[in-house]
Amino acid sequence: MSAVIDLRSDTVTRPSEGMRQAMASAEVGDDVFGEDPTVRRLEERVAALLGKEAALLCPSGTMANLIGVASATTPGEEVLVDSESHILHYELAGTAMIAGVQLRNFDAPSAGCPTPTQLESLRRLGDPDHEPRTALLCLEQSHNRRGGTVTPIAELRSAADAAHRMGLLVHLDGARLANAAASRGVPMAEFSACADSLTFSLSKGLGCPAGTLWVGSAEGRRRAHTWRKRLGGGMRQVGILAAAGLFALDHNLDRLPEDHRKARHLAEALQAASGLRVDTQLVQTNIVLLETSADATTIVERAKREGVLTVPFAPRTVRCVTHLDVSMEEVVAAAERLRRVFAA
Ligand SMILES: Cc1ncc(COP(=O)(O)O)c(C=O)c1O
Repeated sequence: MSAVIDLRSDTVTRPSEGMRQAMASAEVGDDVFGEDPTVRRLEERVAALLGKEAALLCPSGTMANLIGVASATTPGEEVLVDSESHILHYELAGTAMIAGVQLRNFDAPSAGCPTPTQLESLRRLGDPDHEPRTALLCLEQSHNRRGGTVTPIAELRSAADAAHRMGLLVHLDGARLANAAASRGVPMAEFSACADSLTFSLSKGLGCPAGTLWVGSAEGRRRAHTWRKRLGGGMRQVGILAAAGLFALDHNLDRLPEDHRKARHLAEALQAASGLRVDTQLVQTNIVLLETSADATTIVERAKREGVLTVPFAPRTVRCVTHLDVSMEEVVAAAERLRRVFAA
């Protein structure tokens, strides 16, 4: 067992030996010229897995979301996002600075997906002299700041249908789409069917060192490709990363329920601990939010001294995430250490 148990994020995983071997032996070419065969294979496989026409490998989820927003909008338009969405909180207002759009946020029910009525209430009057045109709805599944929660497919579909009726496109931030699908026991394509474009991360629960795919229509891919180049995201012999992605699809996708069991154990073990509150109903995937009575930064510092790494998520919220590189045994130990931290 490691002395330090790292529960900061599922992005802290290191590529396994098998993944490194796949990377080392990848067949590569210049992907800016569209000549990397491993990238092509990964893009085709992810597009098929998600039931879409095309995919585009990007360096990060932040860039892929920005590409998704920029290629679905025109500067001066408006994008609807949940008030707790990653795009709103953690992407440095890139959509405003670079895509030139305004984010308008709504406070969705618990898993971050608006109801059709809520969307309808956001409908603009269509006055072109005063109002921006609303062009896009962004969804997120699983929902990071809402504790890794997952919206039932039927609700997601109603929101997407309502958005489409209002003339909006739908983009889904699927950084943890694989976790969402695993938690519901449905194919990922059921989620992606609700969106016109989406992102799919390789570097969260799937354990790759980098890479997120933008996924959507063949026509959308052409616009996304232009945006990727404009943002400096064109990479050359990137089959090395694509090989890690293919390896992850073969080896790390089906094991995600294990991470969810670890998160559930952590939440249940801390349920009766003093100095914190954890809503186990929200623990549907690999994220556990701990509502603290003390300042979250102080708790995170104390936990670090006890050998557990976590992150402050809000003034009184600490986030823990389970992943490939933390065992159930380590999660059991982390829960013990965290109990002491909170009780202090
Ligand atoms: C929901 C969500 N979307 C997007 C991102 C951005 O991904 P990246 O760190 O690859 O830029 C993250 C990162 O944690 C995330 O949690």
